[in-house]
Amino acid sequence: MQSQISSNFQISPHPFNKEDWASSYCNVEKELTKIELKVIKGKVPQSLKGTFYRNGPGRLERNNQWVHHPFDGDGMISAMEFKKGIVSFTNKFVRTKEWEKEEKAGKFLYRGVFGTQKAGGVLNNAFDTRLKNIANTNVVKLGGELLALWEASSPHSLDPENLRTIGISTLKNTLKKGEAFSAHPRFDPGHNGKEPKMVTFGVTTGPKSTIRLMEFATTGKNAGNLISERKDNFNGFAFLHDFAITPNWAIFLQNSIQFNPLPFLLGQKGAAQCISSNPKGKAKYWIIPRDSGSFSKQKPQIFDAPDGFVFHHLNAWEDNNEIILESIFYDDFPSIKPNENFREIDFSTIPEGILKRCRLNLSNKTFEIQSLSNQCCEFAMVNPIKIGLSARYAWMATAQQPKGNAPLQCIKKLDLVSGKEVIWSAGPRGFVSEPLMVPDKSSSIEDNGWILVLIWNGARKANDLIVLKANDLSEEAVLEVPLAIPHGLHGSWADAN
Ligand SMILES: [Fe+2]
Repeated sequence: MQSQISSNFQISPHPFNKEDWASSYCNVEKELTKIELKVIKGKVPQSLKGTFYRNGPGRLERNNQWVHHPFDGDGMISAMEFKKGIVSFTNKFVRTKEWEKEEKAGKFLYRGVFGTQKAGGVLNNAFDTRLKNIANTNVVKLGGELLALWEASSPHSLDPENLRTIGISTLKNTLKKGEAFSAHPRFDPGHNGKEPKMVTFGVTTGPKSTIRLMEFATTGKNAGNLISERKDNFNGFAFLHDFAITPNWAIFLQNSIQFNPLPFLLGQKGAAQCISSNPKGKAKYWIIPRDSGSFSKQKPQIFDAPDGFVFHHLNAWEDNNEIILESIFYDDFPSIKPNENFREIDFSTIPEGILKRCRLNLSNKTFEIQSLSNQCCEFAMVNPIKIGLSARYAWMATAQQPKGNAPLQCIKKLDLVSGKEVIWSAGPRGFVSEPLMVPDKSSSIEDNGWILVLIWNGARKANDLIVLKANDLSEEAVLEVPLAIPHGLHGSWADAN
């Protein structure tokens, strides 16, 4: 493991080993409670006080049948509590109704959105359109609730201490049963004297789509209460995984895609496999005024967006009549086809994610686009205090090689002004997940704090928790997790009470 300035950073002499990467895909075999993690290098900073939560697929096989895509794996939450320089680890599966049923049956009873089929072939899958809420995408704290999120249906509420599943949450009667609720809330830190909030959305889609934009209080006695909401209708089918906020706006990028549900209905494909790029269409920005902003009662602004496909945004901010939106663009919609094995994918055939900055001119409804780095990346974030404002630095997961797609093995700090990069590598046998930036509250310097990242250690066939200094990506601590957890999705930090 090493950190380097990118000007010296070369392709690793030890390219990744695909078997090391794929060895992460296993069932999580144990649920642990408050196990103290062994520090094998450095020291855990005493000033880190809180819990690092992560979510991701933890159950990938039943009765010798493997999921078709890891995203179809049942959600398993990890909680790493930092207290007085010690980290204790707890993990639990989210006890969704569907997970309980499949545990009892010992086999898959539901189709997965990403192509997992029930045993029994096409006939046994045709016209079964039930959704399995797999609660595997993100985990965030809102008020007293810890929420396991999956965008197509309700959040599950968990006990933040022991991760016990309490059940489906309606967020104090805000949500109807089964209502779509994004796995990508944005936490507005509260700029210009305003209260901090959690801003999020749900989408219903078809020939027309409706976005329900919701804002929740995050502090004080109202924490967890819905403060405001609005609903807006748009033309066309929507696939919106993420969005970005500024003090005045919620910004969505509607990719130019098409959805042909027939193979899903006929039992041949998962619903997400029926999505493809629509070369005849045009991507759109859907920009919705926030209720707490200066344009609250106005209609959304809609205009053309760049070609390509975006899952995740880094951040957005305002500059006079412009919104600047930084997003990770793919040339095409990446998917795993029905006959492909996800462990054997050829990375060189999949488009890489490239971080780009778009300046959206609200006066003349145009955009300008530029790349911020040409290296394949995902899971990017700024210091949470900078969400919605211009940030100087971003931290993200990247490939080792400077160009082309490859597994994520590095953490990169990117100076968004100068372009200077600092890289820490888990290679050649380590693979990173989403890095989480935890600011040092005793400092007002933007890059003072820590980067927490759970890596897959291909040599040990288990995970390590890495604590890096956010400013130079030097290692503060390396801790061994006595567990094998597949490559995961998203997570969050909750300060100690
Ligand atoms: Fe995501």
